[in-house]
Amino acid sequence: MEDGLTRPASPAGLSWYMAVSQLLGLTVIAMTGAWMGQYRGGIAWESVLQFNVHPLCMVIGMVFLQGDALLVYRVFRNETKRSAKILHGLLHAFALLIALVGVIAVFDYHRKKGFADMYSLHSWCGIAAFSLYFIQWLMGFSFFLFPGASFSLRSRYKPQHVFFGVFLLVLSIATCLLGIKELLLFSIQATYSSFVPEGILANVLGLLLIVFGLVIGYILTRDEWKRPPLAEELALSMDFKTLTKGESPSSSQ
Ligand code: HEM
Repeated sequence: MEDGLTRPASPAGLSWYMAVSQLLGLTVIAMTGAWMGQYRGGIAWESVLQFNVHPLCMVIGMVFLQGDALLVYRVFRNETKRSAKILHGLLHAFALLIALVGVIAVFDYHRKKGFADMYSLHSWCGIAAFSLYFIQWLMGFSFFLFPGASFSLRSRYKPQHVFFGVFLLVLSIATCLLGIKELLLFSIQATYSSFVPEGILANVLGLLLIVFGLVIGYILTRDEWKRPPLAEELALSMDFKTLTKGESPSSSQ
């Protein structure tokens, strides 16, 4: 359907996949909350319950918000590129902030309990995912939002930014799966093989995290769902091709 200014509305199918992705995202958050609330005693900053802040914040920040930030360019198709970029950057910043609370919670909990740090595959993947995510945000901000990077520099960096964006969501989901497995082994090792409800809930949570990642990946890789450039962005990129090296049309890319 056209909006009268030759801008196509949201492509058929995209809205459905978007709705499914949001439903899955909210479900994994609710299930993590239910797991911590129902079986792990609840959530608090003090006492042993401080650990429970960790899974919840990591699922909200590193999975749900990170995933949603990747979808911004597919959803906000008719807004200016700059508005979409600002929203994309803000959502990632919010995700990082919530994830930081989750990381502080687990380190602080380990310190108070006198537990060792960074001994597991989960913690190694986790610290890599979190640090690389922070670096990715800094690089994205410097190249795409901070005025000064030239158009050609932005164009050369963009494929790496896109690749690492998808890689980091995959790594975050894989890290969550390792964390789920580890928490189950710590908390219900003796009864896990008897199909206890907590084990089943956590295993289903793991499966839904994978499905969430798949739906986001599918939306991102459908070529016809990519954001078409606005007329003025097209004009700018055409202009750029005629410019000599080093010139920088400021508001595109
Ligand atoms: C992308 C998401 C996640 C990241 C970046 C992450 C990161 C980390 C890090 C860096 C540690 C080490 C803390 C220390 O050594 O003091 C840790 C510990 C832990 N995390 Fe996560 N985590 C994530 C998600 C989860 C989830 C979803 C769960 C469980 C449902 C979980 C369960 C655990 C457990 C049980 C520990 C303590 C054992 C250990 O150090 O491996 N994590 N996490």
